[in-house]
Parts: sequence; C-alpha cells; structure tokens
Amino acid sequence: MTERVTLVRPEALQLQAVVHGSVAAAELKALGLAPDDVLDFSVNTNPLGPAPSVLQAVRETDWSRYPGDDEEPLRQRLAVRANVAPEQVVLGNGSAELIWLIALAALRTGDPVAIVGPTFGEYARAVRVVGATPIRVVDPGEAGAVRALFVCNPNNPTGQYRGLEDIQHMLDEHPERLLVLDEAYAPFVDDRWRSEALLERANLVILRSMTKDQALPGLRLGYLLAGPEVASAVERMRPPWSVNAGALRAGLAALEPAAEAHLLQAQALVAQSRRVLTDRLTHLGFEVEPSRANFVLVHVREGRCFRRALLPHGFVVRDCASFGLPDCVRIACRLPEDCQRLLEAVARVAGG
Ligand SMILES: Cc1ncc(COP(=O)(O)O)c(C=O)c1O
Repeated sequence: MTERVTLVRPEALQLQAVVHGSVAAAELKALGLAPDDVLDFSVNTNPLGPAPSVLQAVRETDWSRYPGDDEEPLRQRLAVRANVAPEQVVLGNGSAELIWLIALAALRTGDPVAIVGPTFGEYARAVRVVGATPIRVVDPGEAGAVRALFVCNPNNPTGQYRGLEDIQHMLDEHPERLLVLDEAYAPFVDDRWRSEALLERANLVILRSMTKDQALPGLRLGYLLAGPEVASAVERMRPPWSVNAGALRAGLAALEPAAEAHLLQAQALVAQSRRVLTDRLTHLGFEVEPSRANFVLVHVREGRCFRRALLPHGFVVRDCASFGLPDCVRIACRLPEDCQRLLEAVARVAGG
C-alpha cells in the first residue's frame, strides 16, 4: 500500500477563514435584491465615501511601472507626521497584511500570544498561521508574560476605547512583550489621544488603516509604526510590491488638506449618527454598548435572525456570532439620514 504524501502543511488545511462584514451577491440574489438595493451597515468605513481628490489621484496612477520607488515619499510623509524615522514606517496591503507580517516577524512555533477579546478575528488566524497559540483574554491584566499582546483600540466590535495610561501600563509592565495596538478606527474617535509618543518604547507596534478613513477597502492601504528593530523585521517579511501604485497615490493624496477636511467632515457626521443610533435604539428597548468608534454594538437577542429580518428591507447589519456574541449585531455609523431610514426599519421589524 502506498503511503499518502502530504503536499501541504496539515495545519494549513485546518485553518478556518475569518467571517467579515458585508453581504454576498448570492445572498442578495436569493432575496431578489441587487447590491444597489441595500445600504450596508456591516462595513465601518468613512460614510462620505472617498474624498474626490483621493479618487482623482488614483485615476492619475501610472499602472505600467512596478511601484517600489513610489513607496518612499509616502513613508517619508507618514514618518514626519508621527515624528519618527522613515525606517519606522512599514506600508501594507491593508492593515490586514501587516497583522500577518507581524506574526511572521515576531512569533515562533508554540509562543503564547494574548488577544484582548471579543475582537477582530484576523489576529488569532495570523497567530495560528505561524504555529503560535492564541489565548483570548477579556482583561489585558490577565495576559501576563506572553510573547505578544493584541489590543484593538477602539475595539471592533464593542467600540470600547482605552486611554493613554492604560496602554502605557501594558507596555511598561512587560517590556519583553510586543504590544500590537490596532488603531484601524481611531480616526473616528472624538478627542482621541495620540499614541505616537509611546513609540520610544521598543515593544510597541501601532497599526493604521487608510482604507477605512478614505472608504477605499477595495484599494487596500495600511501602515504600521514601530521601533527600528521590529519595523525592519516586518519590512523584510513583506512580499515585493505588496502595496499597489494606486494605493500609494491615494495615500499621498489622503494626507493633503482637501482629503483631511473631508475626513473631518465625516468625523462630525459619525459623531452625530452614533448619538442618534444609541439614543433611538435604546428608546426602542435595545441595550447598546457605549461606543467611541464609528459603529455601535447592540444586544438584540439573536443577531442572525435580526440581520435576516432587516435584509428584505434593504439594510445589512453585522451579525456578531463570529465574534462569540450571537446575541449582538454591529451597526456602522453611516450618514445621519441613512441611520434614520435604518431606525425606521428596525422599529418595524422589532414592532412586528
Ligand atoms: C480592527 C481591524 N483591524 C484591521 C482591519 C483590516 O483593515 P484593512 O486591511 O482594510 O486596513 C479591520 C477590517 O475590518 C479591522 O476591523
């Protein structure tokens, strides 16, 4: 009898995909809906869409050359803003790519890695990919002397926002532990504190997502800030040209005043929508977690049924079962008028 030859790592076949937001075209089709018939509250991007100046920059992209040389100007600009050296900035194909590259650069087989949850699922998946062991903790104080600690701030899906002292304490308590601070949604927090000053500590990595600020999740652009050693190791793990030429152009344009004004306008609208969603949903009898982010977590008894009930009305919300919260949905702070329409549908669904 011939022995079965395994052509791949057996663990690779067992790795589960993470459930993300949005809605599949097939699910809509089954309900007789087209993508344009629904308002998507399950994805948390800038509710105004991309700034016109950023879209213009993407249109002007020269796609005929490899983008390697174009990375430096964006790294320089981001470094100046964060008051760090350009070598401390690593660009990525969305911050999702950087989460995986951090795991490749920093984790070894069997390393224990704490993840403060419930939270974004890609941290645990990246940890598993390299053979390290994810440990979910609710309180960062329980994490102890693990190899790395992942903290999402503000947290997806709860909207909880930790203060400077809290993060400083986590860094100082275990200088041998790498703290990965994911700030994908921080641009939508009112009165946010700036984490860059903490980069004097070698054990901090800050993750940022430019695709969320500019509502360009299809383009993919993220970056990280870290000490020189960590940044250099992550950069070495990066596949060549992983950030495309259009994303690099978009990134530079996003740092110009026109796009920054666009983001400021979005921040104000998000704050308004967050208030309206929280107040009205509470008034309708739902428990809403206090959120500082551009989404709210709502206790609805059965998230899956709640999502399914809203879909025929033309609204998609995020069922939070994959976060381990089957009784919750996450609702993005879209434009106030869109939130109003959603709330009317929720009132109908809840009342009926
Ligand atoms: C907390 C968090 N971090 C990172 C990402 C990845 O974002 P991107 O790869 O688009 O930058 C997401 C996407 O949903 C997220 O929710």
